[in-house]
Amino acid sequence: MPKEEDRRPEKPRPKESSGVLSRREFLRDAGLIAGASMAGPITGVSPVDAGAASDLPAARVAAAAAGAPPKIKLNVNGEDYEVGVEPEESLRDCLREKLGCLSIKDMCLGHGACGSCTVILDGRPILSCLTLAVECNGSKIETAEGIALSGHPLIEAYIMNYCMQCGYCTPGFICTSKALLDRNPDPTEADIREALGGNLCRCATYIRHIPAVRQAARALNGGK
Ligand code: FES
Ligand code: FES
Repeated sequence: MPKEEDRRPEKPRPKESSGVLSRREFLRDAGLIAGASMAGPITGVSPVDAGAASDLPAARVAAAAAGAPPKIKLNVNGEDYEVGVEPEESLRDCLREKLGCLSIKDMCLGHGACGSCTVILDGRPILSCLTLAVECNGSKIETAEGIALSGHPLIEAYIMNYCMQCGYCTPGFICTSKALLDRNPDPTEADIREALGGNLCRCATYIRHIPAVRQAARALNGGK
């Protein structure tokens, strides 16, 4: 005789499952399939705020309102140029991208740490990556292209003394060396080391620049 409890009707049993939810089952159970169709904008991303323009620097807003970037005049390697520049544009970008002075490099991503962007501005070597183009209105600029085209003895001296390997840093060294020789026609080794102290070379050609600059100095002084 079966016991009483054995005769009770069986409860409906849940459907057999493999124990592994399909992706669809998981999403359904979590309520995500239905929710997905009603999803709004992705949280954390705001539509473009028209009022953000008020955060722009005032000079840029003024230039934009005028409809064109302000124009500056530059004399680059003896040629006169008039060029429109954005208020935040670096001299490096202006010279390289608008006037085609491709000798000017960027070995430190414009952090003012390498000297590869050096040009001569009104007789002084400067880092063009840290100089705003708008500040240079009316200036005279020399780049390595101009120094090479002028036949300056530094070029031959750099070649003869193996001053470059990859050459990426070389235009900056040339500009700094030229500015040194312009103000000091007979530099000592210490003068050269001090002047070139801000120019970095990944290929470590440093030691070769000293005889090169001295050779150029001798040539400029009539070979003495
Ligand atoms: S790019 Fe390095 S100092 Fe200007
Ligand atoms: S020659 Fe390569 S970085 Fe100077």
